[in-house]
Amino acid sequence: MTFPLFPTEASDAAAQTDYLYWGLIAISSVVMLIVFVPIIYFIFKYRRGKRADRTPVNLPELPIELTWTIIPTFIFVGLFLWGAKVFWNNQRVPPDAMQINVVGKQWMWKIQHPEGHREINELHVPVGRNIRITLASQDVIHSFFLPEFRIKQDVVPGRYTTIWFNARRVGTYRLFCSEYCGTHHSAMIGRVIVMPPAAYANWLAQGQHGNTLAQSGERLYRELGCSGCHDGSTVVRAPPLLGLFGKPVPLNSGEVVIADEAYLRDSILLPARQIAGGYTNDMPSFEGRINEEQLLEIIAYLRSRGATNPEERTANP
Ligand code: CUA
Repeated sequence: MTFPLFPTEASDAAAQTDYLYWGLIAISSVVMLIVFVPIIYFIFKYRRGKRADRTPVNLPELPIELTWTIIPTFIFVGLFLWGAKVFWNNQRVPPDAMQINVVGKQWMWKIQHPEGHREINELHVPVGRNIRITLASQDVIHSFFLPEFRIKQDVVPGRYTTIWFNARRVGTYRLFCSEYCGTHHSAMIGRVIVMPPAAYANWLAQGQHGNTLAQSGERLYRELGCSGCHDGSTVVRAPPLLGLFGKPVPLNSGEVVIADEAYLRDSILLPARQIAGGYTNDMPSFEGRINEEQLLEIIAYLRSRGATNPEERTANP
């Protein structure tokens, strides 16, 4: 294309989003024509002073009212369903997706791969794989914007947000922060590098051979003393955490929640909020004692030792 109106469509979701967008433009254009062409025509036809037949016409009111109510209703409900389907597809992460963590902080994007690779402002992914990204912020609200993937997601401090994509063509794409987040907001720019599977495997092999994310998490789990209470201590009664990830947790309040990333995060930072059934709250908050990346490491460890574990690529002991 010589006159690119849109960024490249680098994922299937991008194409779906664009179809919807063009669909909305097409229908809006038709409605606009139906309204404006007669207006302009009548402006000239019935201009003051012009000779025109101005005797009132008797039209059948009910059929006209019904027609212009029913047809647009179907069109707009149809648009809603179409949009809802695209939205649903974007929200529902496929279970086989590989997990990558992204932490936004003033003013950079820090990326953690499960194998232990860390990147700043660069995100390497294989082509044709479902990629699930957990977004967290270390400080203020950022926005994770991948124009070629049609993804723009606020990254809000204090919570995890999940997005996913499947890159369908190899290449280098832009990553922006699209929420004003302070002095160097405009420098919070990165790249997504989509590689053929073999090249990606190569890249992984060449990287640092440090700990996997889950191994780093396991170390923190011991260093911070989590294991002391949660792994069968007889002194302190604390709910066991290994094998918990993905399972339902009955709470003292009578609610039942799923032990997912968000639940674990809240339990570490705000332990008083959701108390597991049958326990009292004896745990100190770790707010301010660990950062977002360490938190994600601990969660990666608990995920790797979880009940169901479809997302973890690396085998952990
Ligand atoms: Cu981060 Cu703007």
